[in-house]
Amino acid sequence: MNEENKNTYTLKPEEELRFEVDFGRSENDSVKMILTQGTAEIFGTEISQMKPYIFPGGSKLAIYTFSGCTLEMTGVTTNAYVASEAPMSAYYDISEQLEKEREQVNLQNPNSCGPRVLICGAADTGKSSLSKILINYATRLKSSVLFADLDVGQGEISIPGTLSIATVNTPIDIMEGFSLCSPLTYFFGYNSPDKNIPHYKMIVERVAEMLEVKTKHNPEFRRGGYIVNTCGWIEGAGYQLLTSIIQTLKISHVLVMGDDRLTNNLKRDLQPTGQENSNITITRLQKSGGVVNRSTNFRRLSRMQKIREYFNGTATKLSYHSIRLKFDEVQVFRVGNNIQAPAGALPIGEQSNFDPTQPREIPIVATLNSKILAVSHANVESEIPVKNVAGFVHVTGVDMDKREITVSAPSPGKIPKKFLILASLEWLED
Ligand SMILES: Nc1ncnc2c1ncn2[C@@H]1O[C@H](COP(=O)(O)OP(=O)(O)O)[C@@H](O)[C@H]1O
Ligand SMILES: [Mg+2]
Repeated sequence: MNEENKNTYTLKPEEELRFEVDFGRSENDSVKMILTQGTAEIFGTEISQMKPYIFPGGSKLAIYTFSGCTLEMTGVTTNAYVASEAPMSAYYDISEQLEKEREQVNLQNPNSCGPRVLICGAADTGKSSLSKILINYATRLKSSVLFADLDVGQGEISIPGTLSIATVNTPIDIMEGFSLCSPLTYFFGYNSPDKNIPHYKMIVERVAEMLEVKTKHNPEFRRGGYIVNTCGWIEGAGYQLLTSIIQTLKISHVLVMGDDRLTNNLKRDLQPTGQENSNITITRLQKSGGVVNRSTNFRRLSRMQKIREYFNGTATKLSYHSIRLKFDEVQVFRVGNNIQAPAGALPIGEQSNFDPTQPREIPIVATLNSKILAVSHANVESEIPVKNVAGFVHVTGVDMDKREITVSAPSPGKIPKKFLILASLEWLED
């Protein structure tokens, strides 16, 4: 960190400092921030005074203050500026309204439950940021919530290609993110649901079941409800998928990030006319002017960063462990097959027996090298498509003579189950 690049910002009440940190080549490119006076928060998590916070390359953030503050920033930021028109108070009002609904839950009545909120909108409209804000405001008021992140491209909880559920009862750690809660993670394996919509929907159904189970067994989550984050695919089949998710998860509040057309289409399709007291409300929220558009390359780099963090740890820099696995200790599967036989390649009159939700075992070959495999909790083959995963391993070597693969994993010891799932993820460490 270069001491020469030190800036002090003084913010008035209800202003925010927005800044970005470029993806650099070394850790020295990160930025250090210290709150020297007043109070401030990052997407709803309060910042402690005089504690250094380190933001790595790829960070795009806003530090908001309700009462005014002074911040000291060391390191190179891009596009740093102070903005005074943040929609934070509107987001705060929404969270107050949700909290009132939580207070009205009657835990003696098994049908009474807290708000089930889903956030949707196009890519880069602030959905993930609003999810964090709503989670943080709820937990700051001592409510517990279930957070389901269904975004397989830029999810917050686990590595790309996953859908996860986290049980949250304290604000999200600014530097560690969700890595401190032990989430339930489901492996889809691709960065966009369109790669295999039937399988994606199957996992969403499983997520819905698990949310119900957790709600049933924990009064605190029945009261707190859900916050559900989605991906930005809202056109055509993406819109159909969104409405099916809203129904599958029995959502009560849909928050739409600044999109009139999407808001109106959802009202048309989910609140049919004549249905006076519909049990679903659809609210359009203002998109923050600070939300940054991310390029395809930036998205690719941040997915890589998520994978690197998974294996190497975040601020605490855990190191990963190398494990050798005999070919006959494990079985590798794919769900469906992303290479579908073209109709013309089949004999006339014959149908493709391709089922996109079926697991298929694949041989262990040298090309598995550098792939990321999910370690399934499935006990039998048929459970593979919907069972949660224990974690991930990264293949670092395939020895066809010794019939052995070497993998790295974030924790030492044996892997818990023998079924591994392959999809499209790989990691080439640069
Ligand atoms: N008010 C803000 N100021 C600066 N950056 C922001 C602000 N709100 C969001 N961002 C950043 O903009 C990017 C896109 O926001 P995000 O919430 O991830 O959008 P979405 O989930 O809709 O794609 C993220 O890197 C996020 O940290
Ligand atoms: Mg997002």
